[in-house]
Amino acid sequence: MTQQKPLNVSAPETLDLLLSRRSGSAKAMQGPGPNAEQIRMLITAASRVPDHGKLTPWRFVIIKDDARAAFGDILAHALKTNEPDASDERLAIEERRFLRAPVVIAVVSRVVTGIKIPEWEQILSAGASCQTLCIAAHSMGFVANWITEWPAYNSRVREALGLHANERIAGFVYLGHPVEPLVDRPRPRYEDIASEWTPQ
Ligand SMILES: Cc1cc2nc3c(=O)[nH]c(=O)nc-3n(C[C@H](O)[C@H](O)[C@H](O)COP(=O)(O)O)c2cc1C
Repeated sequence: MTQQKPLNVSAPETLDLLLSRRSGSAKAMQGPGPNAEQIRMLITAASRVPDHGKLTPWRFVIIKDDARAAFGDILAHALKTNEPDASDERLAIEERRFLRAPVVIAVVSRVVTGIKIPEWEQILSAGASCQTLCIAAHSMGFVANWITEWPAYNSRVREALGLHANERIAGFVYLGHPVEPLVDRPRPRYEDIASEWTPQ
């Protein structure tokens, strides 16, 4: 039987990683982004999440290189359809939305209905996948930003990504390097979020 590594060997490094992770805004990203091999590694890590019933309730769509501008055209078109009076300035923002980072990975939640595994648990698994993607990116020296913004909820964007009726966008994970050093945000106090249950 393979011997488990003693916990104190690897835990400090892993905890350092978890305790230092923070997002870097998609608005302030630059290249280089992960290459094809690194993307494969990130997605492999992100697929190693708890998954009740082995359903694989998520999948990944990579948007990089020229596809980012092509996706921007779809966003601008979607905006124009919803808001025919949208200004040229707003349309230009949409055209460039996916150009903010070198690589964007859309994490798609896909639920199987009519089975005993609750939908909620399948969606949570997709969330775990997004977060694992962010942590893996941090461990590889990239910065990540898990965001949804309006495109995650737009039917034309859904269509462009080839989403089926049982699928939803859990997030767009922008990947790259920060333009400026990251500043952390306040984190919740342990006392405010943790309590010990005691029998009544
Ligand atoms: C499902 C989900 C969707 C999010 N969507 C957005 C978004 O659209 N825009 C945004 O600014 N932050 C969004 N966030 C928050 C960022 O991912 C991130 O938590 C925030 O920028 C703070 O950074 P931190 O990871 O360092 O705490 C979202 C988070 C989650 C979990």
